[in-house]
Amino acid sequence: MTILVTGGAGFIGSNFIFYEREKHPEDRIVCLDKLTYAGNLSTLGSVLDAPNFRFVKDDICDREAVYRLFEEEHPDIVVHFAAESHVDRSIENPGVFLETNILGTAVLMDACRKYGITRYHQVSTDEVYGDLPLDRPDLFFTEETPIHTSSPYSSSKAAADLLVQAYHRTYGLPVSISRCSNNYGPYQFPEKLIPLMIANCLADKPLPVYGQGINVRDWLYVEDHCKAIDLIMRKGRVGEVYNIGGHNEMRNIDIVKLIIKELGKSEDLITFVTDRKGHDMRYAIDPAKIHAELGWLPETLFAEGIRKTIRWYLDNKEWWETIISGEYQNYYQQMYGHR
Ligand code: NAD
Ligand code: DAU
Repeated sequence: MTILVTGGAGFIGSNFIFYEREKHPEDRIVCLDKLTYAGNLSTLGSVLDAPNFRFVKDDICDREAVYRLFEEEHPDIVVHFAAESHVDRSIENPGVFLETNILGTAVLMDACRKYGITRYHQVSTDEVYGDLPLDRPDLFFTEETPIHTSSPYSSSKAAADLLVQAYHRTYGLPVSISRCSNNYGPYQFPEKLIPLMIANCLADKPLPVYGQGINVRDWLYVEDHCKAIDLIMRKGRVGEVYNIGGHNEMRNIDIVKLIIKELGKSEDLITFVTDRKGHDMRYAIDPAKIHAELGWLPETLFAEGIRKTIRWYLDNKEWWETIISGEYQNYYQQMYGHR
């Protein structure tokens, strides 16, 4: 079987490729990635020359390139990770989010219709449900929760989900959608909360906490997300949405304090900065459906996962120091310089 993985040079996509190669070495994996600022070919260094693997640098919005690839590879399954993924960037510059996340998804699905596939899987996010109030811990996002987005990023992901459902209903495309909560683990780009705090902490730089730091996210170790996607694309029901999350809600400030403690630094590094515009208060997933239908449960406890993650960033400094020494400096200055 050939699996086309888009966005495989990014955080979750690369972890997914490693997981699939281990779990299903018989399958051929083709990775399509544009290598934007968030994509990193060195992440895939260990598999680039492996049999049953091919890397292709192209843009999912480039219809000709995508059709050419389908003609060459005839993938059986398409798993679509490629996206602009950072909320803060979407607030500064929404345009590219609409192009990649909406139009790119349409191009891919058109190719699936034209060449035929057995499954198209859309990697979506819990952010399409909007947020929950802090004073209602009894509320969770289920697959029936209405879509209600806050940022250009989440709106573009929601638009893509609607398109995926339309292609299923209108053209009978065999699709599935997963909506996962916040991931953490190896190879996450240092613009996101956990790696940003680890990198700053190690350099004794201020730790910029938005607002009061009381926003809640539902953290899942990336490998548990990959396991869930593998199950859904192989055994999940066509046309269905599956929520993925591990009932692991934490306030941002508590995560930051935990990282400080693990690295033996001082809480004086914490700096409260201007809040994110439209900042979602709380995300919390009800994963009952994927558990009942596919037997999925998260396997990595947060205490273990965060330690593994911090260890990984300590052991792989070259990977992220290369990233933060380049264009990232301009991004950081623009985003945090006067915050
Ligand atoms: P990421 O930003 O780390 O990686 C995105 C990858 O997509 C990069 O390799 C980039 O080069 C590639 N890409 C971007 N635009 C492209 C284009 N036009 N053509 C081809 N490739 C392109 O993202 P991530 O955090 O790994 O997220 C992957 C997917 O999972 C996204 O769809 C995101 O919405 C979703 N998701 C992420 C999380 C999370 O916590 N990170 C949680 C739930 C869902
Ligand atoms: O819930 C799933 C989503 O999780 C994914 O769809 C997104 O692709 C992914 O980026 C993530 O979105 P968040 O906005 O929740 O993640 P981020 O790491 O950017 O921020 C997590 C929380 O930490 C959020 O409440 C904002 C806060 N934060 C973030 C940064 C980067 C800070 O307080 N300071 C920071 O410097």
